[in-house]
Parts: sequence; structure tokens; C-alpha cells
Amino acid sequence: MNALTENISLSKDIDMANFWMPFTANKQFKAAPRILKSAKGMYFTTVDDQKILDACAGLWCVNAGHRREEIIEAVHQQMMELDYAPTFQMAHPIAFEAAKVIAALMPDGLDRIFFANSGSEAVDTSLKVALAYHRARGEGQRTRLIGRERGYSGVGFGGISVGGILANRKAYSGALIPGVDHISHTHNLTEMAFSQGQPNWGAHLADDLERLCALHDPSTIAAVIVEPVAGSTGVLVPPQGYLQRLREICTKHGILLIFDEVITAFGRLGKATASELFGVTPDIITMAKAINNAAIPMSGVAVSRQVHDAIVNAGPSAGIEFFHGYTYSAHPAAAAACLATQEIYRKEKLFDRSASLAPKFEKEIHALRGEPFVKDIRNLGLMGAVELESRNGAPGTRAYDVFLKCMEKGVLTRYTGDILAFSPPLIINETQIEEIFATLKKALHEVG
Ligand SMILES: Cc1ncc(COP(=O)(O)O)c(C=O)c1O
Repeated sequence: MNALTENISLSKDIDMANFWMPFTANKQFKAAPRILKSAKGMYFTTVDDQKILDACAGLWCVNAGHRREEIIEAVHQQMMELDYAPTFQMAHPIAFEAAKVIAALMPDGLDRIFFANSGSEAVDTSLKVALAYHRARGEGQRTRLIGRERGYSGVGFGGISVGGILANRKAYSGALIPGVDHISHTHNLTEMAFSQGQPNWGAHLADDLERLCALHDPSTIAAVIVEPVAGSTGVLVPPQGYLQRLREICTKHGILLIFDEVITAFGRLGKATASELFGVTPDIITMAKAINNAAIPMSGVAVSRQVHDAIVNAGPSAGIEFFHGYTYSAHPAAAAACLATQEIYRKEKLFDRSASLAPKFEKEIHALRGEPFVKDIRNLGLMGAVELESRNGAPGTRAYDVFLKCMEKGVLTRYTGDILAFSPPLIINETQIEEIFATLKKALHEVG
């Protein structure tokens, strides 16, 4: 165990051999583990009874704060009445209710909701909807899917194929789905370093889609999928006008536009969706994470009525129209958690709260400009990142050490490469925002 982790060591009783941890440096972690045993509101508590301020809402998902009684109670009651019911050729009432509540939060027209259990499943569902739509309309030659470099769309074969993260793709390169291409990412520090909110340079980067249309012919392209704000690769905020331009090009060529809002939906940017914030309506939106405060696995895909109707109307009058679904689609416990969560968001006006805290968040995160190793700071809503200079020959190690130092000081951050990302629960207060960035500042001074 090194000096940075000695205060957060694991109680010796836990045998860690069997759990193969996801997206984790297993050997490194198990040599110096960080184990959380409980949570409430803005805080986790470790097995060593250290209180940790959650600056990440877990993994961008616990937007209403931890262990909300209303959600626990709703799940309990639902489980006491109906623990499980299939939604293949059967259903249960709150599946419909949850779809209605979610549909009401989506942009106009995107009111047909398909449920799944993770962001990855939502993404793969959205890609299948796009292919099925074109086929139903007699344009079955539109099979090409376009993602974006530095995009993260989960870990299904569809998601890693359209995704733009090398490490997630290279071991599976021979098995990625065929006919996928990528537009370039929007990250350019020469032009946009230290932008507050949306950078004012870079709308033209959307024209890269025209390059792919010229290469492949638009009539072969089914859909383009992008995160409106790329989260996992370090909070890449779209340049002003970029998403509008992407929308225009898609519309011009009959290509469906999918926004992967697994991170951005449900208040992260101060509105129900990023689509609403940017005033750009895609054809399909994927969502997960905050849909039910991450209490039970759940995700969804909002599909425009036009796309939905094309698929459903093309199907037989008494046969399945879309051969896709999950055993746990609209699981009663997940749907109950979803309804309780959305009621909390509504009652506590948490999306508005997120919007009203965003200027404070922006001020505090940008105050770190000039601190050791800081080469960029970016933010939108309650989402932000601090990018650090990498150590020579050891990329990623500096942010990792800063992450550990922050944890030792009682703040949970998230690191990806040499970028530290922040996405606190929307119930955060101004003092806690100050605490997060004051802690980061100290950590930057202590870690070399
Ligand atoms: C934009 C985006 N899409 C998809 C996913 C995958 O979600 P999951 O981990 O629930 O499969 C994530 C996860 O972080 C994400 O950020």
C-alpha cells in the first residue's frame, strides 16, 4: 500500500479474489483497494468510516443524491406486490406509466419509449431501431452507422463499433460490426482551451459528416450517433452551432440522428435533456443512469413517432413488429424506481437547481486555471473536467495520483487518462462545490 492510499485501506476481512472488476486495474486495485460501504445524500462512507463527498454522482448517475427514501419505499412496495412480470406479450401497469412520464420529458415527437437495462443496451437498441426503420421504408441498403472519435457508447458490439475509444476496440477489432465509420472529434485545445460553456470555435467540424457522405454515399448511411456532450472521454462540450449543423446534414440526407444522452439526460445540463438545452431534436435519444437515480439497472430509448410508426405499421397485423427486447425491459422494480425518481426531480425542481448552480460550478472550476499542470478546463451545466499535462512517458499516472489524493482528502472524483471529471448530484450546495475544487487545488499542489 502506498502513502496516498494508507488512509483508505480495506478491512482485512474481504476476500477480493472472485470479483473480476469492470473497467478496473484489478491487480492495482486489489493491492490498494477503495471500498465504499454506505451512502447518503452527497456522501459515501468507506469501510474505514471515512466520509467521501461524491463529486461524480457515482458514475454520472445518482442525480437526486444517494439513498433516497422515496425511491427505496416505491421499490419495496412494488416488490411486495409484483416482483417480476414479463413484458413480452404481457405487461404490468407501471411499465406504461413510466413510459408516459419519460415521454413527457422528451422533445416533441420523441414519445415512444423502449426500455432496456443499461446504457450499452440502449445504444444497441437505438442502432437496431435505425436499421429496422430504413428497412421498413424500403431503404434496406442504408446499413452504415456513423459514430465519432472519442465517443463512448457503452460496451456492446454496437456500442464499441460506433464508439471512438481505442482501448475499448482494439482487442475486438476483428469482430466489430461492419460498415461503421467515424466523424472526427471536436477536441482542439489550440482553439478552445479554457472555454467557459460551449466553445465558440468548431461548428464546421460537423461538416466532417459531409466527407463521409461523399465517401460512402448518403443513401448507404442509416444513422449518426453522438453524445451531445461527450462525457467519458473527458467532458467535450460541443462547439456553438455544431449540433445544429449535424442535424441539418442528417436531415438533408435522410440519415437518422441519435443523441446518446446516457449521461446528459435528466438534469445534468439544467434541462430534461441536452436536446432541449441545445434546441436540437434528434430522431432517437438513448438514456440510462439518472433515469431512476441508478437505484436499479434501467435504461430507455426515446424514438420519434415517425420512426416508431414506420416500423410498427410495416409489421404484420398480428405479429411481432420489432424482434428485440430484454427479459428485464421495464422490470417492475426499475419502473417503480423510475417513477419515484422522476417525482423527486419534479417536486424538488432539480433540473432548475442544476441550472442555477451551473454558474457557481463554472466559476469554481475555472478558478483552477494557472494551478500546477492544468492545461485545460471545460464545463457545461453540472459537468466539468480539468485536463492535466501528462508525465513524460507515463500518461494517466498524474490524474490517477490526483484522484487518490482527493479521495484521501474526502472527495470522490473520476479520472480518464490525465483528465479529472466532475458531475455531482444535483442536490449539491455551493459550499460543497467550493469544497470539491478547493480539495482538487490542494491535491494538485501535493502531487508532482
Ligand atoms: C454516453 C454513454 N453511453 C453509453 C454508456 C454505457 O452505459 P452502461 O455502462 O450503463 O452500459 C455510457 C456509460 O458511461 C455513456 O456515458
